[in-house]
Amino acid sequence: MSVADQGWLPAELVATRDLTPTIREFTIATGQALTCPPGSHLRVRIAAAGRDDFRSYSVVGHAAGTVRIAVKRQPESRGGSAHMWSLNPGASLEIAPPRCDFPLTAGAAHYLLVAGGVGITPMVAMAEQLVRRGASLRMVYAARSADELAYRDELQALLGERLALFAADAGETLDIAAEIDTLPADAELYMCGPLGLMEAVRRAWDDAGRPRAGLRYETFGSSGKFAAQAFTVKVPRLAVEVLVRENESMLDALENAGVGVVFECRRGECGLCAVDIVATDGDVDHRDVFFSARQHAENRRMCVCVSRIANGSVTIDPAWRGDDAFVAA
Ligand code: FES
Repeated sequence: MSVADQGWLPAELVATRDLTPTIREFTIATGQALTCPPGSHLRVRIAAAGRDDFRSYSVVGHAAGTVRIAVKRQPESRGGSAHMWSLNPGASLEIAPPRCDFPLTAGAAHYLLVAGGVGITPMVAMAEQLVRRGASLRMVYAARSADELAYRDELQALLGERLALFAADAGETLDIAAEIDTLPADAELYMCGPLGLMEAVRRAWDDAGRPRAGLRYETFGSSGKFAAQAFTVKVPRLAVEVLVRENESMLDALENAGVGVVFECRRGECGLCAVDIVATDGDVDHRDVFFSARQHAENRRMCVCVSRIANGSVTIDPAWRGDDAFVAA
């Protein structure tokens, strides 16, 4: 779906609040009541690097006519967080109606909510709904430092002893395997955070022999094994060579060069943007949650919306073979 086809609605930024030194909350007047179950994303249309684009942000909460999101300022931003942080109350926005790809089920015996950093954003609404339902739950929330624990006071008031906080700079470490060990058999785990945390959760969940159906997660593609760096992409079938700058995605660079790539989520979740890796002399920094660990290790395909190459270049073959797959720039 193209950026222009998202069904944009006019909206207005009515308030901002700094939750931590790097996470800012945005309250957006939507002009109408929107359906936002926990786990929903709001798409915000932005201009990034001079291009019409959008970013998806988890909905923290909503009330009649307003919705709240929170955005972490990323030094390696492709333009999304820098754009959001440049906005002041009164700014006009365009948003797409929220969609929920990370739904909270009903009826589990117990819920473990696991958040890392700005991954707390969908967990706030989930915790509130579980408390309203009277469900059994625990939240574990880890950040680099205590002052990066967004919504700390609100969550302590909501959850009391059901909340455990971990600040890495204080030597506090989250033992996810121990957390999973204490869960009843039919518990569900919801996780949002960086890739490393997600991989640790998936590994511990599988090692404990628990069914994958009880594990639900999403991540953000800004975190990888390597710091973002510029790299070259070659597309021999189209006789194209593209430089991907440090602060842009491979998807954006390919699109700018006229290489057609199908995409949907731009978050490394749907797999639609995956391309075949023909060869690479670098390290493939897989940042998606669509492929399994085994598929990542095989390095045969990569999701170009979030994944990158470090220390080298890559040769790919995009899946899209339509007649208009390439339009000369
Ligand atoms: S667009 Fe969904 S994984 Fe890339």
